[in-house]
Formats: sequence, C-alpha cells, structure tokens
Amino acid sequence: METTLVAESLEKLAPQEVLSAVLGANSNASACLTCSFQAEDMIVLDFVRRRIPDIAVLFLETGYHFAETYEYRDRMAKEWSLNLVNVIPQSTVKQQESEFGILYQTEPTRCCQLRKVDPLLRALEPYKLWFTGLRREQSPTRKNLKKIEEHKLPTGKSLLKVSLLADWTWGQVWEYTAKHKLSYLPQYDQGYLSIGCEPCTAIPDDPANPRSGRWGGKKLECGIHTFSQGGPG
Ligand code: ADX
Ligand code: SF4
Repeated sequence: METTLVAESLEKLAPQEVLSAVLGANSNASACLTCSFQAEDMIVLDFVRRRIPDIAVLFLETGYHFAETYEYRDRMAKEWSLNLVNVIPQSTVKQQESEFGILYQTEPTRCCQLRKVDPLLRALEPYKLWFTGLRREQSPTRKNLKKIEEHKLPTGKSLLKVSLLADWTWGQVWEYTAKHKLSYLPQYDQGYLSIGCEPCTAIPDDPANPRSGRWGGKKLECGIHTFSQGGPG
C-alpha cells in the first residue's frame, strides 16, 4: 500500500518535512492531535497549529488529572486559541467510584479502559489523521514506533497515526522548548518526567527510566497506544 512506501521514506525527515509530506498527501483530511499537554505534545502542537490552526486538540479528560494540568490546559487553550475537545468518559468519577470503587488502586487497566481507551476510540472516529507526541525513547513498548502508522479502529475505519517526534531524544524536547520559549507543565520543575493522571503519576526514583513513575512502575501503557493494528506495544 502506498502509505507504507511513504512512511518508510519519511523516517529520516525532520518534523516539519514529515508534516508537509503528510498534509500534501492528505489535503483537507480531518485531523486531530491527542494532547496530554506534556512537553512533547506542546511541541507537536507548535508545529501543527501553524499549518492547521483549528486542529482538534483531544484531551482525555479522565477527571483524575493534576489541578496544575487543568490550569495549564486552560491557559494554553486561551493563549493559542485552541480548538480544545475534552473527551469525556461515559461515567463521571463519582459514578464510577460508587459503582466499582477506586479502580486505579484495584484494577488500573479497567480504569484506563473506561476513562481513556473507550472514550478515545469513540473520539477518533471522525478523523483521518491522528497526531501524537509519542517518542521511541519513552518506553521499550514504543521502540518500534514509526513516524507514520496505519491504525485500524475496532469499527474497521483506518486512520494515519503520525508521531512527528518519534526519533527525538528527551534532550531535543527540552532544547526545542527552551529555544522556542514554550511554556510547560509546572510539574516538570518538581521532578516529574512523564505526567498523566495524578493518582498514577509519581516522581521517578530512577531518572534514567522516566516512565517508572507511572502506575507505580506496575505497567507501562494505559492502552491508548496499543489497541489497534500497527501499535507500538
Ligand atoms: S500514556 O499512554 O502513558 O498516557 P503518555 O503520557 O506517554 O501516554 O503520552 C503519549 C501520547 O499519548 C501523548 O503524546 C498524547 O498523544 C497521548 N495522551 C496521553 N495522555 C493523554 C491525555 N490525557 N489526553 C490526550 N492525549 C493523551
Ligand atoms: Fe485511571 Fe490511573 Fe488510568 Fe487515569 S491513569 S484512567 S486514574 S488507572
């Protein structure tokens, strides 16, 4: 399939070049970025918003994020006039906790399924292009990530998953952030290296393993990047 040929030839290109090639081959395609407001996502957004100012910025609103994350999200949405889409689970936190208890303590995989994976699957349906801030270096489960992957949703619909920073290092992320004077989530200054829902995010003991602070080191992925064909995990 043509997508595979394009994907291979794009692997060595810089983010702007990959972006131009993807948009050139998919002009007018509906596009979204899944955005946790971590540093990588802000860089991808910085690239993409210049080309698609009204790109849908999908935030998985689990109800369990840090207060600082909500504040930063709202500030950046205003500053960058983002088309922010809060993707909401079917149950509120209160409903889920009264029905099943504190799932992030007892069954985090189920909690992620209900609050992240299922809502994301529904939210991705209208789009043809899906941008992410994933990097290969982040986790062994991401080491085979390609800049462009074809992803099939359970409904059978396919979309192009684009990870412009797949080959970037942590150092490059912070070089870009400083050079372009991007603001960032305040939790980084406290020592957090990978930031998700508050109850499942800690400052990692081993800075060489940034995702060891997620889910108490008990799991590496919440499932939003492992549910479909071509996924890294
Ligand atoms: S996660 O799977 O462990 O949560 P991670 O925090 O490394 O992922 O982020 C990787 C990518 O997943 C981000 O670049 C973003 O595209 C997406 N992502 C993660 N969390 C969210 C969220 N709360 N809302 C939207 N996208 C998210
Ligand atoms: Fe629930 Fe934790 Fe997953 Fe967030 S990261 S959805 S709180 S288990």
